[in-house]
Amino acid sequence: MTDPHNYLTQFWAEKNPHTLEFWQSKGGYEFAKKAMEMEPKALIDLVKASGLRGRGGAGFPTGMKWSFVPQKEGQQRYISVNADESEPGTFKDRYLMELTPHQMIEGIIICAWAIQASTAFIYIRGEFPFQYKRVMEALAEAKKAGILEGGTTLGKNFPLKILVMRGAGAYICGEETAQLTSIEGNRGNPRLKPPFPAVVGLFGCPTVINNVETLSNLPWILKNGNDWYRQWGTEKAPGSRIFSVSGHVNKPGLYELPMNVPFKEVLEKHSGGMKGGRKLKAVVPGGSSAPLMTADEMLPINMDPESLQAAKTMMGSSAIVIMDETTDMVRVAYNLAKFYHHESCGQCTPCREGTGWLEKIVARNYHGGGKESDLSLIDQVGGQMCGRTICVLAEAAAWPLQSIVRKWPDDFRKRFGKQFDAHVAERVAEPAHA
Ligand SMILES: Cc1cc2nc3c(=O)[nH]c(=O)nc-3n(C[C@H](O)[C@H](O)[C@H](O)COP(=O)(O)O)c2cc1C
Ligand code: SF4
Repeated sequence: MTDPHNYLTQFWAEKNPHTLEFWQSKGGYEFAKKAMEMEPKALIDLVKASGLRGRGGAGFPTGMKWSFVPQKEGQQRYISVNADESEPGTFKDRYLMELTPHQMIEGIIICAWAIQASTAFIYIRGEFPFQYKRVMEALAEAKKAGILEGGTTLGKNFPLKILVMRGAGAYICGEETAQLTSIEGNRGNPRLKPPFPAVVGLFGCPTVINNVETLSNLPWILKNGNDWYRQWGTEKAPGSRIFSVSGHVNKPGLYELPMNVPFKEVLEKHSGGMKGGRKLKAVVPGGSSAPLMTADEMLPINMDPESLQAAKTMMGSSAIVIMDETTDMVRVAYNLAKFYHHESCGQCTPCREGTGWLEKIVARNYHGGGKESDLSLIDQVGGQMCGRTICVLAEAAAWPLQSIVRKWPDDFRKRFGKQFDAHVAERVAEPAHA
């Protein structure tokens, strides 16, 4: 083993890891050079064989995504680096950009060579001004050092432009097709798939969209090879994963651990256990879009996509939110319902209306005006939203709420029959069909 399992974050505690000088002192940009000595197709095959899967949410195999990009002579191809990081609970990409921007840029060069792209956009969340500055400085350093210079990249006749775009605070612009629409200068509305962006993406041209953490893995795969990479995790999901841990734990933070690490180990060993010794009640296992889990469901699980899927939830962006026995799940549901209603782009009726109804029904429960039939109503409205929309924000809104009413109905029942404020009552008026 040439590097520890926390290869992505291993330099974070060192002095100035964000600089080009530091990155090159660790062999940085030599791995992209190595990639550029390979035939692009061979590079795609290598990444396919590594088993690397996307770290943005959907977990799609990276090499396979790249292999869908048509290679027609003279065709423009693009990359969109998804640095929007807006999934509640997730806070890893901002540190990857702040502390190791050259690791990401090297990953972008490797991806660009593999699909023969001439332009990459880094779509960075608008609320990350410091990270934006760091990325801009790193790009300027790379240009000054001749790494990305005019018509050449790392001295090779391969022109690559890396441009930075800032989001304007819309969660939906993290969804890949909405991101493309936003880069094109329009309101960030998702598009129907197919066609998939790898074939028809930015400005109608083939485009690969990859997350910051996904791309940051590439230099290490190039450096150390697939056997090294596959020593962690599972056959279908190797490597490490950066877990964003928050909530009622003693040591919330980012933990880069081998994929497939037991949840119990993340909680007890790395995150310092439950705050105040209280009991675990609920877990968001992979960002706010994932169905929530009870303590009994979660404690035996390993953190990899297959294990979480088998348990009827998902790994998503690997953001873990821990909630203790004092947590009011109706409040959690209300928070989530407000968020997804606010963030729905409104193009699809089931999502636009469904998220609105969910917010109203959960709000009246939160304020004490709920009744037993609301539990099945929330479940039904959620069910009507799924599988009927342009993108999966509808599922992301429905699944967590469905899981909450199914698993913690008594938290709702405790509030039935209580008074709620008049101004709130007005806002959460009885739905006509309820
Ligand atoms: C509503 C919504 C929001 C999303 N937000 C993000 C995000 O902030 N960052 C991200 O990398 N992926 C996000 N995704 C996933 C992207 O659509 C896409 O799958 C991902 O960027 C692909 O990169 P990867 O294969 O490297 O994971 C989001 C998806 C949805 C449906
Ligand atoms: S599902 Fe919701 S967010 Fe996605 S396109 Fe439709 S209305 Fe917009």
